[in-house]
Amino acid sequence: MSVVYEYQLRIAQLFGVNETFALQAALLHDVSNVVPKDRMMSIAEAQSIDIIEVELRFPRIIHQKLSKDMAMGIFGCTGIAILNAIECHTTLKAGASPLDKVLFAADKISWELPGEHPYQEKMRQKLEVFDLDGAILVETSHL
Ligand SMILES: [Fe+2]
Repeated sequence: MSVVYEYQLRIAQLFGVNETFALQAALLHDVSNVVPKDRMMSIAEAQSIDIIEVELRFPRIIHQKLSKDMAMGIFGCTGIAILNAIECHTTLKAGASPLDKVLFAADKISWELPGEHPYQEKMRQKLEVFDLDGAILVETSHL
């Protein structure tokens, strides 16, 4: 089992988020990574996915909406809470649900990046004291 699924389940348990929903969101959140990066935007356009200005500037972000579209269209996922979490797992959003936040946090602390990334340890420390919003704030403020 991949690291993101392990984190997703552990964080979901800590914060009382439905584990089945959390696991489905973890399994499907990056499904669009099977699409070559240079084709993601054109496929999103072909699928009539609403593309906003920041996604034009940072095209990689579109993968979260593309994953939502594929989760629905290919895997038959109909869970609105799951689809919403997939759709904002990279950027999060105002009014995020607990499942949105759990997937966002699990995604960020599971990244295997080259070099030192102390924010990941700081996020883990916040989660250990049941501070999900604090963990998210660590990630969103380190950029
Ligand atoms: Fe992603």
